[in-house]
Parts: sequence; C-alpha cells; structure tokens
Amino acid sequence: MYKIAVIPGDGIGKEVMEAIINILEASKLEFEYTFANAGDEYAEKTGIPLPEETINIVKQSQACLFGAAGESAADVIVKLRRELDLYVNLRPVKSYPGTKCLYNDIDFVIVRENTEGLYSGIEEYTKDGANAVRVITNKASERICRFAFEYAERTDRNKVTAVHKANVLKKTDGIFKDNFYKVAEEFSDVESDDKYVDATAMFLITKPDMFDVIVTTNLFGDILSDEGAGLVGGLGLIPSANIGENYGLFEPVHGSAPRLAGKGVANPSAMVLSAVMMLDHLNESEEARKLEKALINVLNEGKIVTNDLGGNASTMEMAAEIRAKFARE
Ligand code: NAI
Ligand code: MG
Repeated sequence: MYKIAVIPGDGIGKEVMEAIINILEASKLEFEYTFANAGDEYAEKTGIPLPEETINIVKQSQACLFGAAGESAADVIVKLRRELDLYVNLRPVKSYPGTKCLYNDIDFVIVRENTEGLYSGIEEYTKDGANAVRVITNKASERICRFAFEYAERTDRNKVTAVHKANVLKKTDGIFKDNFYKVAEEFSDVESDDKYVDATAMFLITKPDMFDVIVTTNLFGDILSDEGAGLVGGLGLIPSANIGENYGLFEPVHGSAPRLAGKGVANPSAMVLSAVMMLDHLNESEEARKLEKALINVLNEGKIVTNDLGGNASTMEMAAEIRAKFARE
C-alpha cells in the first residue's frame, strides 16, 4: 500500500488527475490517496494558494501527484519545490508513436538543477536598470551532478553531458563544470563530456542522438527542456518529476489550460507518464513499464485519442482505453 498525496489544482489539472486515478485502479498495486488543496480556486475561497496542511500531507506521503495550478503557479509549485527541497527537475524527452515528433527515435533525459542559478530570486533595481544574481554553489552543483550519474547508472544510460557556458560565465559555470568532472571520476563506467549551451540548443534539433543524460543549471535546463518538448510533439505529452532526498512530486509540464478546462478534451498522456515516473521512483519498474506500454499502444493505434493527437475522444474515453490495456498487460 502506497500513500500518495494528490493535488488536482485547477482547470485541466483536475481532469487529468481524475483520469490517472481511474487508470491506476487497474494496477496490481494498492494506493491510498490523500487529496490536498492548492491553486487559484482554493485561493479564491480562502485567500491562500498553498495551505500549510497541503505541505504536511505531501510530507507524510511516499509520493505526490500534482495536476496543475493556474495563475497561482508560482505560489504553489515553485513554493512546493523550495519547501520540500526538490532539487532535481527530471524531464525525459522521448518520441512516442502517433505523435508529431521531429524524429522517431528521440530518447534523452534532462536533469535540471531546481533550487538556485539565475532563479535564485535575488533581483534588485540599480540606478541604470536592474541586476539578477546567478547563485551557483559547490553543494548544489555536486548533488545535481551526482544525481545525474546515479540516474544514468540506474537506468542503463551510457553518457552524461554537462551543459554550461563556462567560457563566458567563468566563475559560476566554472564551479559547475569542476564539480561535474569531480563527480564523473567516481562513475568510470559512464561516459562524461560537456557542451556549451548555445551549441546544445542547435544539436538538440540537428543531432539529438548525441545526448543521453544532460545535466545543467536552472535557467538553461528550463529553456532546453521546453525545446525538448517541441521536439516530441508538445505539452499534452510531457511529464516531469521533482525529486529531493526525502520527497518526490510528479506532474505534467503543462498548466491549467483555461481554454480547454471543463470541456473534457485534455490529453491525459502527460499525467499518465508522470505516474510512470512515480512508479519508477517507488521502484515499481515492472508496473511502470506496463503502464507506459498501455499508453504507447493507445497512441500507436491512434483511434481513441484526444483532439490534440488528431482524434475526438474525451479525456475519460482515452483514459478508459489506457486503463483497459493496462489491466490486460
Ligand atoms: P498551459 O500548459 O496551461 O496550456 C498551453 C496550451 O497547451 C493550451 O492552450 C493547450 O492548447 C495546450 N495544452 C496544454 N496541456 C494540454 C493537454 N493536456 N491536452 C491538450 N492540450 C494541452 O499553459 P498556459 O496557457 O501558458 O498557462 C495556463 C495557466 O497555467 C496559467 O495560469 C499558468 O500560470 C498555469 N501554469 C501552471 C503550471 C503548473 O502548475 N506547473 C505550469 C505552466 C502554466
Ligand atoms: Mg519552463
């Protein structure tokens, strides 16, 4: 029995959450869900986007499924990442059949540092404009690089590439790069190299098979992972994991999509793949592969799929099809 915190949030977040909970009923595993409030709707009623109680529910669970927040996203998801010290943002970029991907064999993972860098939140006005502080510490650099190598080993990936701009950002990215190669020495069975971020942005489009695991700082990881989403067919398909020493939170990359909300047309795939990541995190990799395979089969058949995938099924119709295949796996 796994204790799972469930934060549906706003808009299509609630709809894709209903879909995944329905699908997971077909699992051989048992889940005990604790629903928790957060987001715009809750803030309208109470004035608080992320109540303390929700943070406590996540802390008492083995994993958290998160749908999406709306305008309060910065006060909800960014705050949760900080409060729970979820220092890794893991985004797999993988092409699935039946989707609008640029190549059919894309399969790499971006490991983004989630707590510092240019998103440290230290900005100030000056006489002439404003400054932002790019905080890079040895501690955060070392732990994100270590996570990347351990992840590569665990998932049978062969290479880790550090992405940086150390020729210009000599001190900050110098520290990041030094920590990368220091950690790399401990993982002699995994290949390591490094690339400049601008060249990486190009190679992701021209030669994505150069990459296996990318580890990078906060802003670069944010930008490159959206580029990755563009490579493999858009937001309805892209999951993510936020991971720390003690907690894991799994969420689609998309937001509350107010224009789609309430219509039952949202693609549940990103949420399903986020649950696949959760199962892997819980060391239930057999169950994770079964769920992923059920989704792949539905995408491949292309019949009972949502509008953005060229079909006309509703969220729950597509979910029912994934569930039926998952049950048979
Ligand atoms: P969005 O991701 O909500 O939607 C952008 C567009 O992508 C949609 O209009 C839709 O065409 C498409 N899309 C997204 N998810 C889809 C799905 N599951 N199925 C089919 N199509 C899908 O981003 P947007 O419009 O920039 O933001 C809307 C709200 O969401 C904002 O209030 C924003 O603050 C919030 N947001 C929350 C996030 C979070 O909770 N992690 C992340 C991003 C945005
Ligand atoms: Mg982003």
